[in-house]
Amino acid sequence: MAQKPWGGRFKKGTHKLVEKFTASIDFDKRLYKEDIEGSIAHVKMLGKQGIISKQESQKIVKALEGIRGEIEKGKFPFKEELEDIHLNIEKRLIDKIGDIGGKLHTARSRNDQIALDERLYLRREISEILSMIKELAEDLLNLGEKNIEVIMPAYTHLQRAQPLLLSHYLLAHFEMLKRDRERYVDCLKRVNIMPLGAGAVAGTSFPIDREYVAELLNFPQVSRNSVDSISDRDFVLEFISISAILAMHLSRLSEEFILWSSKEFDFIDLGDEFTTGSSIMPQKRNPDVPELIRGKTGRVYGNLMALLTIMKGLPLSYNRDLQEDKEPMFDTVDTVKSSLQVLSEMMKHIKFKPENMRKALSKGFATATDLADYLARKGMPFRQAHEVTGKVVRYAEGKGRELTQLSISELKIFSNLFEEDVFDHITLEGSISSKKSYGGTAKENVLRMIQECKREIAKW
Ligand code: ARG
Repeated sequence: MAQKPWGGRFKKGTHKLVEKFTASIDFDKRLYKEDIEGSIAHVKMLGKQGIISKQESQKIVKALEGIRGEIEKGKFPFKEELEDIHLNIEKRLIDKIGDIGGKLHTARSRNDQIALDERLYLRREISEILSMIKELAEDLLNLGEKNIEVIMPAYTHLQRAQPLLLSHYLLAHFEMLKRDRERYVDCLKRVNIMPLGAGAVAGTSFPIDREYVAELLNFPQVSRNSVDSISDRDFVLEFISISAILAMHLSRLSEEFILWSSKEFDFIDLGDEFTTGSSIMPQKRNPDVPELIRGKTGRVYGNLMALLTIMKGLPLSYNRDLQEDKEPMFDTVDTVKSSLQVLSEMMKHIKFKPENMRKALSKGFATATDLADYLARKGMPFRQAHEVTGKVVRYAEGKGRELTQLSISELKIFSNLFEEDVFDHITLEGSISSKKSYGGTAKENVLRMIQECKREIAKW
């Protein structure tokens, strides 16, 4: 049994089962880079403040860098009996340079150390997620620009509602991503706070310089209260919450692609690279990628529930329960990043089928609202226009025809306000180009909006 770094007050060794049960090294070894980065800043500060000698500080820094190299080369002897990443690294340090290594942990506790590691880690991951969001948003804009002529049915209640530009639809998803991005940028403010120096709970009697550590690690702010510094996991919770919203958005976009790639819709081709076959039905091409993005959203929601539940009844300050925050955090990072990445790649392979989208609009009276608007513009109260249009639709349906296939004399049976120009308003193009209200689907609006979004994204 390895000697525990905290073994002083114990007469007997830890039970094997307890060792296994309490160890987190299997998953928190992912934090090795942050742990070493934080330790190096800490030990530099100890040297600068004369808490340990300059030479000791330099020696420890060098050894820590060596340890980083060992881990990166896969040569580091991780040990379960040393519990976690912190103790594994510290023990290795002492093995390498002897007792001086034991000075690293002066004026520090694992409680503030882990809080620092997690903040360093999330900060890095959030900036990666931000650049992935940017890439996906660019994909949406590019597709929107390329397909500016494509008309599709907009749905409400999953019933064909009105003609829409596909680009306009894609820009709707851009808006969601823009908000997701804003949430991560905002979350970063609260992640980017330096907790080291809180010690175990009460601060430390050593003359530490927290500002200096913050400066070395590029934190704009140090935490203000030692108790809160080690108890707070709001920043992880916030990260998972906003990731749950992002995952929900990715899931909704995926859901569209799943529907659209079905034979029932047949609006897109996802491409061979992004579909898989069935082991029994030879004709099938399944949209597994968007299905899994949709499915994995459940993990992120689960992670959020897990951490909220872990935190709920915890008395201040540190409790070992907090060790359970890591797997939900890591899993959220992995899930969101892999979903963003694969979705972005898939977007580059999607082929739209404009003829089929158009065909879907040829049935279902998608321009009935435009017909009612036409009457309302000519002075008929909209409620009445709605009623009259309803009757026209019923009539056309009875004849098995579409609105554009009715003659002007047939339309006049329902209202004298109908004139030849009505047909300009109830074609798909006419309907779309009439939606000039700000935020509407008229082509000129959408083109302007694409340019605006491009200017925005250049600053992301
Ligand atoms: N592995 C621990 C965690 O993840 C590190 C902090 C341990 N602190 C303690 N007092 N046991 O939370």
